[in-house]
Amino acid sequence: MSIVFDEKKKLFYLHSKRTSYIFGFLNEHLVHIYWGSRLDTVPGADACVPHCSRPQALYNCPERRDLQKDTLPLEFSTFGNTDLRNPTVHIQYADGSTISEFEYVSHEILDGKPSLDGLPSTFAGDSGVQTLAIRLSDKIKGVDILLYYSVFEDKDAIARHAEIVNRGTETIKILSCMSANVDFADCGYEVITLCGAVQRERYVQREAINFGNKIIESRRGASGHQRNPFIALVRKNTSENSGEVYAMNLIYSGNFIAGADVDCYSTTRVYMGINSFDFSWRLCTDEKFVSPEAVMVYSDSGIGGMSRIFHRLYRENLCRSKWALSERPVKINSWETALFDFNEDTLLALAQKGKRMGADMLVLDDGWFGRRNDDTTSLGDWSVNYEKLPGGLSSLADKLKAMDMKFGLWVEPEMVSEESALFKMHPDWCIHVPGRKKTYGRAQLVLDLSRREVCDYIVNTMTEILNSADISYIKWDMNRNMTDVGSSALPAERQRETAHRYILGLYYILDTVTAAFPDVLFESCAAGGGRFDGGMLYYMPQIWASDNSDACDRAKIQYGTSLVYPVCTMSAHVSRVPNVVNGRITPLKSRCDIAMMGQFGFEFDPAKLSDEEFEYCKNAVADFKKYRNIIHFGDMYRLSSPFETNIAAWQFVSQDKNEILLIVFNIMSEVNGPFHILKLEGLEKQAIYRDDESKLEFSGALLMQMGIHFRNTADFSTKVLHFTKD
Ligand code: DGJ
Repeated sequence: MSIVFDEKKKLFYLHSKRTSYIFGFLNEHLVHIYWGSRLDTVPGADACVPHCSRPQALYNCPERRDLQKDTLPLEFSTFGNTDLRNPTVHIQYADGSTISEFEYVSHEILDGKPSLDGLPSTFAGDSGVQTLAIRLSDKIKGVDILLYYSVFEDKDAIARHAEIVNRGTETIKILSCMSANVDFADCGYEVITLCGAVQRERYVQREAINFGNKIIESRRGASGHQRNPFIALVRKNTSENSGEVYAMNLIYSGNFIAGADVDCYSTTRVYMGINSFDFSWRLCTDEKFVSPEAVMVYSDSGIGGMSRIFHRLYRENLCRSKWALSERPVKINSWETALFDFNEDTLLALAQKGKRMGADMLVLDDGWFGRRNDDTTSLGDWSVNYEKLPGGLSSLADKLKAMDMKFGLWVEPEMVSEESALFKMHPDWCIHVPGRKKTYGRAQLVLDLSRREVCDYIVNTMTEILNSADISYIKWDMNRNMTDVGSSALPAERQRETAHRYILGLYYILDTVTAAFPDVLFESCAAGGGRFDGGMLYYMPQIWASDNSDACDRAKIQYGTSLVYPVCTMSAHVSRVPNVVNGRITPLKSRCDIAMMGQFGFEFDPAKLSDEEFEYCKNAVADFKKYRNIIHFGDMYRLSSPFETNIAAWQFVSQDKNEILLIVFNIMSEVNGPFHILKLEGLEKQAIYRDDESKLEFSGALLMQMGIHFRNTADFSTKVLHFTKD
């Protein structure tokens, strides 16, 4: 049993193999007690929760003036009754009041894990999972809140979400609803977040938090390039392989917020959920609002330990595609090769060369439909451009099949160009506020997915496309953020629901389309990595990590992304030099080695390669195919960070622990420089590991304790070492 309720002490224990999360009651208050390494018993809330009477603090029980909500570590907090910190839930009632008082009513412990209505979430699969559902109620207004905690016993993770049910007679307005809240009785933590920009996604940022609020958020209608819905609190001495980490990741693709607030009593509140900025949700009688899921991970073996927990969980219990745990095709993609300028012959020639290099699939990117010869037109008009493809998609797919190549296709179904038949027919189908000037991104507008008829149009369009030819893969792009937020189909009082309704509409579309075409491999993309989140991964097991394929920048992007997301979820291609994004020239080998730490592909025209380079690529694909199981499904250890040193290093240990792959990326050469010592991890001390190349043998203890010595001798060079256990 991973969830236990101690009736006598009124304590809830949520145990996984190595962790415990404990909370209980102090009077009627649901108080947080512990989150950390496994702990089987505690004396009770009274003895464990630090509480004392603070001068001027507020209380709501005259007999217990020491129980001041503002100073207690709470499991759940509402506005208006003495806890003045950021509330978990904030509701406005029909009388205009915004005060709630939720009291415990009951709880149940369920085997397995219920799914979340309309939202992606982790699933139990073959893992042992139990779920605790706690019902709280505001008796005056007849509103219930259900707090869900699902414990993945063998994975050391807890998935949380909240549901608000209106059992009262009046419509209420939800002003905010966090998915999870944890109050720590102390402070002094550092916060790790993943921040960046377009083409510089998910750089690791670590900073101390002092008195005040640290917030990361998105108000863009997508999780965004700029901030990822991930926050981790670490101790000052926590490193990659030791120390405590408390992490939260939201399974959601829209506006989110995550905060870490240190208050005047030196306690820390961490929370995460839908961003309440420009949000509200009207809930009528008998309706239910479901928050997205927050996944919580505790690790006492550093940031790397945290990542390995997320990786296993997301591979096995989040990505629902049948491709999640399978080897996937190596792609050759037309985008950086040809942009909009191609025809069937040039595509077949590209595929032919790709095939000779070992690729399994041609991906036809943007430009195959309508009159799309640049980015100003045709989104929404998903009919084939017969000037470029005289035989349509099916002829191309058939010809590819004849050469034993699969066919992949790019789409951007959430968008519409003003220059399109769809826009002319349905000018009100885009997100906009009537009477206001529209704003553009890449000359396009965002379709209003809060409207069911728009979603159904997309489902039908995608169904037609997928039925029209033998298509094995879809790259689902989304190239602008949401502005002019409003829906002409929603009444005035529901306008602030638009952004969340858009995401629910998107999930409805993805749910329907991916379920109808289970064999198709779907890849998510948002102008590169602008929507790299667990919500998208639920439907699509891989995401184009960035439009920046420069080896040097990609090393950082993929390193940062790997803090949460498994390597097999990152799509990574080898592109030409000078790099189209930053002009940098890096060796072909480094570009291949970095792309190997993802779903491998090419983004250039092999016809432009020298014979030697062509041969190199061929071998690189063969190497990737040889090693991908270790990289994608083994354990990853980050040995050296490109954010901290001049060398980046990743180690992968195969699932059966018999093979090790080490990938080292030297950033800048250091003339007559020092040795960088890389100490390997996760090996058997007594075992002997043989380096394939040198045939030298090393004990596990030596590799872990003495390590391997590297020198940075050439700019942007890589070294790959493969060891086999004797
Ligand atoms: C943005 C994507 O990130 C690129 O890979 C490419 O598909 C373009 N869109 C096409 O417009």
